[in-house]
Formats: sequence, structure tokens, C-alpha cells
Amino acid sequence: MSNYHIKHLEEYYQVYRKSLRDPETFWAEVAEEHFMWRKKWDNVLSWDFTKPEIKWFEGAKLNITENCIDRHLRNRGHKTAILFEPNDPNEDAQHITYKQLHEKVCKFANVLKEKGIQKGDRVCIYLPMIPELAVSVLACARIGAIHSVVFAGFSASALSTRINDCEAKMVITSDGSYRGAKTIDLKGIVDEALEICPGVHTVLVAKRINSDIAMKDGRDLWLQPLLDEAYKDCVPEIMDAEDPLFILYTSGSTGMPKGMLHTTAGYMVYTAYSFKNVFQYRENDIYWCTADIGWITGHSYIVYGPLANGATTVMFEGVPSYPDFGRFWDIVEKHKITQFYTAPTAIRALAKENLDYVTNRDLSSLKVLGTVGEPINEEAWHWYNDHVGEKKSPIVDTWWQTETGGIMISPIPYSTPTKPTYATLPLPGIQPALMDENGLEIKGNQVDGRLCIKFPWPSIARTIYGNHKRFKETYFSAFENKYFTGDGALRDEVGYYRITGRVDDVIIVSGHNLGTAPIEDAINEHPAVAESAIVGFPHDIKGNALYGFIILKETGEYRDRDNLSKEVNQQITDRIGPIAKLNKIQFVPGLPKTRSGKIMRRILRKIASKDTSNLGDTSTLLNPEVVQEIMDKAL
Ligand code: PRX
Repeated sequence: MSNYHIKHLEEYYQVYRKSLRDPETFWAEVAEEHFMWRKKWDNVLSWDFTKPEIKWFEGAKLNITENCIDRHLRNRGHKTAILFEPNDPNEDAQHITYKQLHEKVCKFANVLKEKGIQKGDRVCIYLPMIPELAVSVLACARIGAIHSVVFAGFSASALSTRINDCEAKMVITSDGSYRGAKTIDLKGIVDEALEICPGVHTVLVAKRINSDIAMKDGRDLWLQPLLDEAYKDCVPEIMDAEDPLFILYTSGSTGMPKGMLHTTAGYMVYTAYSFKNVFQYRENDIYWCTADIGWITGHSYIVYGPLANGATTVMFEGVPSYPDFGRFWDIVEKHKITQFYTAPTAIRALAKENLDYVTNRDLSSLKVLGTVGEPINEEAWHWYNDHVGEKKSPIVDTWWQTETGGIMISPIPYSTPTKPTYATLPLPGIQPALMDENGLEIKGNQVDGRLCIKFPWPSIARTIYGNHKRFKETYFSAFENKYFTGDGALRDEVGYYRITGRVDDVIIVSGHNLGTAPIEDAINEHPAVAESAIVGFPHDIKGNALYGFIILKETGEYRDRDNLSKEVNQQITDRIGPIAKLNKIQFVPGLPKTRSGKIMRRILRKIASKDTSNLGDTSTLLNPEVVQEIMDKAL
């Protein structure tokens, strides 16, 4: 029996039980058989969730890019590693073979070194979905620099916060990006961000849209001439298993974004293993994940997981609606995609359009469909299953997080019978627990509670960069000796998990995690605003949308509420990015508060969701009268 590739349900249960009985032997076997080590580990696992401290494969030496590229050169040198599909369908797709990828990564790595980047330095990557993005990520890993990719939809202010938090020395960007019919001035955003980032000494600029941009003397350099000059081979830096690989920021319910730190060996083993099984990947498949590499899904399941398996991974620069709503399906037909992995929000948006966009394309190459990032509602699940999968491709509803590094709960296609809206069963090595409010584990089936994980898995984040205390408080303090996910879940009669949503103040909008506090901070910076509270409410396409309750200062100015709403949204766009804009804004005389001054978001959530039949006990509020006033004018 191979641990590495599960092919039927009985095998899943056998492998799962083995992974529980003896996790160390289980992961050691996977690691031993399927990866290239410069030196084997001395110890498979040491862990202590109270500190928390987690170490996998300690003592091992490796470079992840040798595993993702070099070792495939002999048998797969001419196989396409990255298949780049540009924004404009009339521009040719690019097939980058493993051999070409090797050369590109080595050259880029040599440029990084020449510009003073050394092992352990942080490099911020702010690029659109073009090949240079994947190449620069791998080039950092080649020399042991820690990449911090910032999604290129974030604003200058959000970018500078992330650059300063990890003290990046270099930023890699482009002259601009294409997004459907629009272009975006990425370099302008970087310039603005860097006004307050004194630590950045170099900006490498890739050419994409050929726009006329300003280059700052002594700081900004065009990438291509440097690559042209660079040597085509670069000896990989030999890393310790627990050396940092990357930082990726995710929103918290309060304060600064959290720079989740992932390390090398465990992350590699787990992303490769989960990729192989969840997508039932086989040689010659053409795998496409529509996420952006700016998110964890792109890190683990566009770059590292697929490449570690020697797969062909598609990178798509554009958007699902350009030039029309059939674009995804055009690409599936054109490249004969076998696995297609996307977000529920995209499915809901496409399901609203004419069915001809889907049915006019040949989607017969598809074997596995995936979703990630938020709960998928039943209607969207069926649409995906009926029209995209034509009822023959199983849907894997994959639950996981930036913090978990890889997929945690998901069906194994062709093995686990699927059930709409259920992520189903934990992958081997994953030990979920549902907890009650008193901190006790709820055993048995047909129960619900807060979702925790009881035992470490190889790709769990090791810390929040520069703030281990926050790491401990956020994930390891709510429940003793357990990792707390922040999600609620239920377990049905056969043990299948269904994720019910966040139980904290994180709201997932179109699959993006948004913390309430940073958005409220952005709103409160507006000179006319005294206080604000935002909550999520159900939205057809986005899953959740944002509803802002805003108290104005009594200055008498700003009589025009429409303008004010626009300004508030502009403020949010400037501080965070357009993804955090409010769908509805209600100006209110006060906010319902407890006697200790805490905003009762529960009540606001109900009002925003038009579910006011049972508001619960409001008599203990400091200002119960305000509730009726807000309800009367709710949008
Ligand atoms: O609430 C869960 C939701 O997305 C959160 C993690 O967001 P992020 O770190 O941005 O990573 C997203 C991509 C892995 C989770 O805490 N979530 C993710 N996948 C699912 C989900 N909710 C329901 N079903 C899912 N399949």
C-alpha cells in the first residue's frame, strides 16, 4: 500500500488510521520516498502547542527548488512546468518547460544575489499573475531569501504596512498590469508605498504593459537587462528543514495583518502530498487553479505543490469576465484542463450568466473540480456539478487556511462520496476536534462546535513574523493544547465536516478574509466620522458583503450623505484596497453597546441580514433605544 497516492475509500481509511496511530512514521515514509534531501532528518517531529513550538524533519537539509525543478530535469525537462495564459486571449499562451524554468529561476536568483540579497533577507513581491511572479518566488527560495508576496490588488498603504512589518530590502514589481479591459499602474502604487519604507534599497521592475513610468535613480532597475546578463545556473542554497520559506499576510480580527511564517521541509512535504491526493494528479494532467499567487492558494497549489509533483500548472493573468463570461471555459477547452480549482464566488458570478457560455464549450477533459476559500452554497455546488462537471467530475470542497499551509479537510475524488456543502473528511495526518464553549471536546457525530486541530501537521505556520506572542494568543490560547482555526463546523451522522463560517470578527467577502478592525480604522480616519462598526450580510455572489454603521461627528458639515458614502469607500480603497469596500452604508445616531462599552455586533449582524424577528435580549444594553432607530432606517 502506498501512503502517497490514495485510490479508493477503503485505502483512505487505512492510510488515515495509520497516520493517526503513528504520525511520525507515516510522514517519514512520505518524505523519504518522494523528495530529494541533501541530508535526512535526525528527528521527524518535536512539538509543544503551549509554547507553541513545532519542528518537522529537524536536522534535514534541502532546497525546495531542487525538489520543484532540478530533480524533474532528467525525465521531464521538456515537459511544460508553467503554462501561462495571458489576459488577452489573442496573445499567445506561453509554455515554460522545466528546463526553461530552471534557467529562468537561476538567472533571477543570480540577479537577487548581485543586488545584495542574502539568505534570510525578506523580499517583497508585488506582481500581477505573470510568469515573473512564480519565477521570483522560486528565485528567492533558491537562495534562501524569504519571499513575502503581496496581492497586487492591495493599496499603497496596505503594501507599505506589509513591507515595513517584515523589513523587506527589495521590492519586485512591474510597470503595470492588465485586468480585463483595464490597466493598473502598479509601479505608481509601489512608488507611493515606498515613500514611507526606508528599508527598501532596490526595486526590480518587470515590463508587462510597456507604459511610460518614472524610474527612481539608484533604486529602480529594469529586470530584463539584468536577467540577460545573469549566469544561467545557480547553486541552490542548502537550507535547514525549519528555515523560513516565506511570509504571507492574512487579516486578523484586530490590528495589523498577521505575517504568517512558513518553513521549508514540512511545507514542501504537505503541499506536495495533498496536491497529489486531493486532485488525484497524474502525469500529463493539465492542472489549473484560478487563484492569484498573492494568496496562500496560489503559493501552495499553483507553485509549490504542483511543481513538487512535476505537474503542468496553469497561470492565468486575466479575469473570468473578459472578454466575456465564457473565458474560464474557453481556457479549459483550449488547454484541455483536467483539474480545475476555483472559488465559490467565481462560480456564483458565472452561474448568473447565460448558460450558453458553458454549454458551448467542450469541457470533456475535466476530471476533478475544486473549490476553496469560503463555504459553497448548495445552489452553486449543483450548478458547478451539473454544468461544468457534467455530473461526472467529483467536486472537492477543500477547507484550509493561510495558517494551515495546505488543504486540511476535503474529499479524495473518486474515493470519498461527495455531499454538497460538505468538505467531508480530514486528510491523512489531520486530527480535527469540535469544541464546546467550555473548552471541552464534543465527541460523536451529529454535533457542532468550534473547529480545532489536535495534532501538528507538517505545513502548519510556525509563527507570526515578529510577534510570537500574538501567534500564541490567536491560535493556541482559546483551547488548551489545540490549534484553534477561528471557524465553526458541524459533523454529520457519518463524520463528514461542514464548515459553517467564522466565529470571530473576520468576514469572508468573495473568498477574501477581511478583519473588521482595520476597515473600521480606515473609516474612522475620515474627518466627519466619529465611530463605525461593520458586519457581514449574505450576498448572492460575494457570499458575504459588508454593511457599515457609521456615526458622524456633530460638526454640521457633510450634509450630502451620498458623497460621504463615496468618500468613505474611497478611504477604504486607499487604506486597504477595493476588495474591502462597503456595499451598504447606514448613518446612525449610535451603536448598540454593552455596559462595558463593547459594540454588540450580533445585533448589527441581524439587522444587516434582515433577520430581526429574534434579536435576543437587548435590555442589558447601555442604549437599547438605539436598536429600534437603526432598524427603522435599515437598508
Ligand atoms: O473560514 C474559512 C474559509 O476561509 C478561511 C481561511 O481563509 P484564508 O486564510 O484566506 O485561506 C483561504 C484559502 C485556503 C477559513 O478559516 N474557508 C476556506 N476554505 C473553505 C472555507 N470555508 C468553508 N469551506 C471551505 N472550503
